Amino acid sequence: MKAVLCHSFTGPQDLRLGDIDEPRPAADEILIDVHAASVSFMDQLLVSGLYQMRPPTPFVPGTEASGVVVAVGDKVATFKPGDRVACSAWTGGYAERMIAKESKAVRLPDGVAFETAATVLHNYGTAYYALVERARALIGADAIATNQVEVHPFLQNRRLRDHCAAAGITVTAYMPLAKGKVADDPVLQGIARRHGAEPGQVALAFLLRLGLIVIPASSRPERMRANFAATALALDDAEMAAIAGLDRGGRMIDPEWGPAWD
Ligand SMILES: NC(=O)c1ccc[n+]([C@@H]2O[C@H](COP(=O)([O-])OP(=O)(O)OC[C@H]3O[C@@H](n4cnc5c(N)ncnc54)[C@H](OP(=O)(O)O)[C@@H]3O)[C@@H](O)[C@H]2O)c1
Repeated sequence: MKAVLCHSFTGPQDLRLGDIDEPRPAADEILIDVHAASVSFMDQLLVSGLYQMRPPTPFVPGTEASGVVVAVGDKVATFKPGDRVACSAWTGGYAERMIAKESKAVRLPDGVAFETAATVLHNYGTAYYALVERARALIGADAIATNQVEVHPFLQNRRLRDHCAAAGITVTAYMPLAKGKVADDPVLQGIARRHGAEPGQVALAFLLRLGLIVIPASSRPERMRANFAATALALDDAEMAAIAGLDRGGRMIDPEWGPAWD
């Protein structure tokens, strides 16, 4: 089948039309006869090598498209051949046929043109983002309540915290107890013993002294009380430095699309 191919990450001008084998859907995928595909900012970044991940070359760009389902994988329950769909994917849209995950496709209502549908999943979102960002510029960064990200002693997220501090945006540390793993750390245990406290409280006191908002979760009332009491626990500079040394990039929420620097 015909496809637009990216052989090198040197930009849209170097894309070439070529012939490739028709892809075959895996169990959770659908094969689509592409009627329309859009050009998104993400496509531009991907073929220029500026996106946070690079597919092996040559690859078929095209992050969103619409068309008609021609085959489905064994486990696909939502779609059948003949259905009109729109879908998003990392790659594949600039070809006569493309593959999409069942979970990344939506059925098109009657009357929605393929050309319209092919722009909704990414380009619409990009435009929306631009409008929201523009609103932020209009209302001022101080109108943003907080930026909620993963921060705990094993993932201290300094670069992002510094960026937010420079922009005057507070940071809320989600998962501040590393899902309870802080309880097993010898450094936190030692500091906790000195204060007659729990390691979890030490972790929270550390984050609070960094100026972060913390949102620890517990299903136990006594722990909720103990976690709240961490607001009264004062760590000294040596203790802060010891806990700072526990940072090891220990991300727990780690999506595959996360950028390499993160
Ligand atoms: N915005 C986002 O994308 C995002 C992502 C993840 C999480 N969050 C939010 O962040 C909040 C906290 O996240 P989380 O619950 O995943 O992680 P967490 O607060 O770091 O850890 C909760 C776990 O730690 C245990 N725990 C609580 N207090 C403790 C203590 N003092 N010592 C030892 N273990 C303790 C709890 O067990 P017990 O119940 O047995 O006490 C629970 O298993 C939640 O409100 C969550 O919704 C937001």
